[in-house]
Amino acid sequence: MGLFSWLFRPKQEYERKIASPNGRIVAEVKLVRGRVFYNVKKDDKVIVNDSTIGIALRGRKSLVDGLGVIRAHERSFDEVWQTEWGEEKEIRNNYNELALYLAELGDKKRLFTMRFRIFDDGVAFRYELPPQPEFQRLAISEELTEFKIDNNALAWHIPAYQPDRYVYNYSQNPVYELAHSVHTPLTIELPNGYFISIHEAALYDYGSMTLRLNKNQALMSDITPLSDGMKAYVELPFNTPWRVVMIADAATDLIVNHMVLNLNEPPKDDFSWVKPLKFMGIWWAMFVGEWTWAPGERHGATTKHAKEYIDACVRLGIEGLLIEGWNNGWEGDWLQNGNSTSFTRAMHDFNMSEVSAYARKNHIQLVGHHETVGFVDNYERQLEEAYDYYIKYGIKYIKPGYAGSMMTIQGRREYHHSQVGVRHYQKTVELAAKKHIMLDIHEPIKGTGIERTYPNLLTREGARGQEYEGGALSPSHTTILPFTRLLAGGMDYTSGIFDVTNFSKRIATTLARQLAYYVTIYSGMQMAADRPRFYEKVQPRAYQFIRDVPVSFATTLPLLGKIGEYYVVTRKDRDSADWYIGGVTNEWARRVRINLSYLDDGEYEAQIYRDDFTAHYRDNQLAITIEKRVVTKKDFLDIWMAPGGGFAVRLKKL
Ligand code: NOJ
Repeated sequence: MGLFSWLFRPKQEYERKIASPNGRIVAEVKLVRGRVFYNVKKDDKVIVNDSTIGIALRGRKSLVDGLGVIRAHERSFDEVWQTEWGEEKEIRNNYNELALYLAELGDKKRLFTMRFRIFDDGVAFRYELPPQPEFQRLAISEELTEFKIDNNALAWHIPAYQPDRYVYNYSQNPVYELAHSVHTPLTIELPNGYFISIHEAALYDYGSMTLRLNKNQALMSDITPLSDGMKAYVELPFNTPWRVVMIADAATDLIVNHMVLNLNEPPKDDFSWVKPLKFMGIWWAMFVGEWTWAPGERHGATTKHAKEYIDACVRLGIEGLLIEGWNNGWEGDWLQNGNSTSFTRAMHDFNMSEVSAYARKNHIQLVGHHETVGFVDNYERQLEEAYDYYIKYGIKYIKPGYAGSMMTIQGRREYHHSQVGVRHYQKTVELAAKKHIMLDIHEPIKGTGIERTYPNLLTREGARGQEYEGGALSPSHTTILPFTRLLAGGMDYTSGIFDVTNFSKRIATTLARQLAYYVTIYSGMQMAADRPRFYEKVQPRAYQFIRDVPVSFATTLPLLGKIGEYYVVTRKDRDSADWYIGGVTNEWARRVRINLSYLDDGEYEAQIYRDDFTAHYRDNQLAITIEKRVVTKKDFLDIWMAPGGGFAVRLKKL
């Protein structure tokens, strides 16, 4: 045996505990008979039981057993970084890290590293595959990451691999009842009282992780497959996304868990040009059937309507306007015709140069629209040209969409959430960054924090949003979202529908609750989604809140919450001393008492928008009470929420 191989002879026994900076969370990593296991405890109570890790490969031995430890390296990290926009101005990134360098014991001697990071609010780890001679390109047939938790725990979940992507209502079941794969973030209440959410961070060039019970009844990674059944093709060096287990004492603590952002890299370029935006749209009129995307008598995106909406934006103090249905591709059955959509040719009744000049004159930012219907090949052929077209007209915001149950990529039908789907979304984000374009992606890949690296990705949809209402959503939905989907980042929920009683698209909320959403559902681009006349003529007093509420905050404090029942959160404006509060309840009326001790010294005018005592989401949605009082940090606010109701408060510093 040469000296070299002796020196690097892998250890066959290994065990190490690493604690979070405050010591409360401890991860144990160990090697048992050639396999690596990890487990996680908080305050000595089990969060994750001994779980295995590994990667299964096509045509080669899996990286799962016969392993030894070559070296282990530990370090600590603590830094505070500044965001360009978002729910917090500053975020602390503080963890203890263990990098475990592994090698196979047999004659293969392939190497990989498991990197663990233990934060005060959770644990993350990833696989790192360094380049090695004879081990350069891999076909990954499965990732074998287990998250073995107590299966009596309760999970809030939406199903994976369904035609409507992430657009589902949440179900709540014990983990042992999960019969199919579910999307992440998967939020779980453990029998020992802790709340966890399993998710991933920094998803690049890999299938998105869903979770299912494996044959040992353990939750296991189920990576979204490609059309040939493989999970990913990777070239070494390659790092998988981070596998993340957020851990909280109370559900509301999950809201301020920033692990997902922290596990992403800081931006490489200057993104100070990125600006969050509030916008209206030639949009809801199509959903209620007043206008159409398609050409014809009721065509929405005409030059005339666009100019009228720009005037309305000016009067209403809204900076941006989305215009959907201006380009060729909406004729006939647009869901089928996506392969021939043009992103640079306007319909005959829409003049881009006239509309954009009018917007510029009025200081209104247009939000361009690209409905690809998932025909990625058609879109990628035009992508650069499509971006440049908008740039030529001074348009810096784009809302791309991928309606359609699958994507067409290189002629194949692929999942939106597969490796090639992930790669496509990434291409759009990176090209947009280069061209100083900001995005609001609909039918997106779920958020994994890449907006830290690419802050031009201002928001996305990626859950059942308001456009799917029409009575189909129960009021509990938006009391679940903050604890599940929103842990993956902001969401364009398209709030501010005031015409809640409209027969063709009835919305199951009170009017006051529509205002609450601007605080409870964070988005770097917030839509005032209804038609301007509902703001100007029908409910001008309630509208005032939408005008006032900012899109970027200095800090966020969840105040009260029970998943599926109610949620109250307060946020401080980034650019003033004002605070905002939003609250929502499920179908049950509720009175909440809010302690204002978090306020700064001095007096505030509390501008309160709440449900009237007679309000109800089914038959008395519009009954709103708007009142003002002066408060200080010594005061409490007692607020009643109607069934399916909510409230919004602006605390204006006096
Ligand atoms: C689905 C999007 O989510 C929606 O906002 C858009 O209006 C339609 N597709 C049409 O593009």
